[in-house]
Amino acid sequence: MCGIVGYVGFQWAAPILLEGLRTLEYRGYDSAGIATVDAEQGLKIARSTGKLHNLLVKLTADMPTAKLGIGHTRWATHGGVTEENAHPHCDERGRIVVIQNGIVENYLELKEYLLERGIRFRSQTDTEVIAHLLGLYTEELGSFEAAFGQVMGKLRGGNAVVAVDRDSPDRLIAARLGNAGAVVVGEGEGENFVASDLPAIVRHTRKVVFLEDGEMAILTESSVRYQRITGEELRKSSTTVAWDPISAAKGGYKHFMQKEIFEQPRTTTDTLRGRVDIEHGRVTLEGLALSEEQLAQIEQIHAVACGTAWHACLVLKYFVESLARTPVEVDYASEFRYRSPVLRPNSLLLALTQSGETVDTLAAMAEARQQGIPTLGILNAIGSQASRLADGGVIYIHAGPEIAVASTKVFTGMLMAGYLLALQIAQAKGILTPAQMQTHLQSLIELPGKISLLLKDTSLYDHLAEQYHHVTDMLFLGRWVNAPIALEGALKMKEISYIHAEGYPAGEMKHGPIALIDERMPVVCIATRDPVYEKMLSNIEQVRARGGRVIALINPEDTQIREKADHIIEVPSTTPLLSSILNTIPLQLFSYAMALRRGADVDQPRNLAKSVTVE
Ligand code: AGP
Repeated sequence: MCGIVGYVGFQWAAPILLEGLRTLEYRGYDSAGIATVDAEQGLKIARSTGKLHNLLVKLTADMPTAKLGIGHTRWATHGGVTEENAHPHCDERGRIVVIQNGIVENYLELKEYLLERGIRFRSQTDTEVIAHLLGLYTEELGSFEAAFGQVMGKLRGGNAVVAVDRDSPDRLIAARLGNAGAVVVGEGEGENFVASDLPAIVRHTRKVVFLEDGEMAILTESSVRYQRITGEELRKSSTTVAWDPISAAKGGYKHFMQKEIFEQPRTTTDTLRGRVDIEHGRVTLEGLALSEEQLAQIEQIHAVACGTAWHACLVLKYFVESLARTPVEVDYASEFRYRSPVLRPNSLLLALTQSGETVDTLAAMAEARQQGIPTLGILNAIGSQASRLADGGVIYIHAGPEIAVASTKVFTGMLMAGYLLALQIAQAKGILTPAQMQTHLQSLIELPGKISLLLKDTSLYDHLAEQYHHVTDMLFLGRWVNAPIALEGALKMKEISYIHAEGYPAGEMKHGPIALIDERMPVVCIATRDPVYEKMLSNIEQVRARGGRVIALINPEDTQIREKADHIIEVPSTTPLLSSILNTIPLQLFSYAMALRRGADVDQPRNLAKSVTVE
């Protein structure tokens, strides 16, 4: 999660930018930089890898006194951790400087457009593309503001962008495109601020305005103007934020679970950071302690976990077996060590755990180590016990702290990380060509934007909760890679709304569960386009024939199921395997709305703990 801060006012900008970046350190970063501009000193840029202290050392030697500037902490997305890749980035003429958060999904085609015009790149980042485009357009249009709006219109994907023009040293411009996290403007007295999160602003002013998708703000020391990137002026009223730690931590959401559901466009982006090289069609999982040769020799994977993480293992089985043609056996961690598992040489134990402290998962890892098998962890909590047991390395999800007991953003993060691992193994085994890898990676980096589409309007779930909050039983059905998603949807529903919900592979329905179905039974059917779509279609007809109420997840272009279901939830299309990640979001939102309508304790459901550290 990159941190963004901008300032224009009556104070020196550099100290304010550094202080703001320090409040955002919790987001994690591997390099930092600031740029300041004023009529006398012109444009000054300072960047460093590592912690903010390294940047401070550089600045202390020559502290800029300009009263306008922007600052950034970077978690590597495209390109390694180097000073050249640190933000801010500037155009060839050194006139425009830019900081960014998110992923420019179409940066390859934009880079080719710029290379054809003789632009020379200094970094491997997608951000630099924005700087050069702004430089070109500002020269051509003669207006920094007009250029900014036009360039924003050319970017695809969720992005937050802040830029400064050396020749317009009285203003900075910020924009929010899609959902790469917040862009919040702080309206002060004789000074104005912009940041990617409240903590960087509320020490100076609590009058804030959140930009929405497609909106931009032009800040000077005495004014803030809002407009759409297409130029239409906007009137936006500020809100005064209460500044207590808990409500600040909830960031304006009613519950941590709601906040964590809505964080997923950014957290899934952060799982990809620094690991995806689209240009060369390669994946680099930095935390792996296994070489490409060792990965290529893996003949069997044992995936172990509990609860939601176990559902993620079931999905990873489809990813790894489809993409890397490597067999995956999935075990409940609580059963693994008791079944006297036979672990052959060239096996790998893959442990998925949010907390990294789940006792059964730790015991499964110990069992594998005892049999001389390397263990690899897909973890979220940094520095957990599991990270010390994982001698095969750790793939961190980078979802940030997950407070709600019901796991949401970490589950989709586990799936993103698992897909990357499947590609990394396929790459090591030479099963996928760089061109095939490029196609998979492009689909992957487009997912966060599609997740934010699913979060735009959630009123449908309030309607469903109004209609079904009284039910006592529910069934969730899915097939193929979406069968585990049906299990996960049922777990979410049961653990926060206390409704007895069961998840089943739809093909199993005729082997028993169909006896449960009648008009009182809502049945959630995951029916987005995939190789078994026609079979799901007939399952839906079987449910309807017995009076069951069908809530179907379908793609927008679907025409066959629309009139067969009682309720439709549209899910953006993606590749069949990745539909598992998008289909998860509606099921999270549905269970959240039902729990809310039933007055349940959403964040701390009865009898549950966030991490089960005892057997
Ligand atoms: C998820 O909604 C549950 N709270 C629970 O199943 C959880 O996934 C399980 O306890 C595993 O926890 P871990 O990922 O921290 O190991």
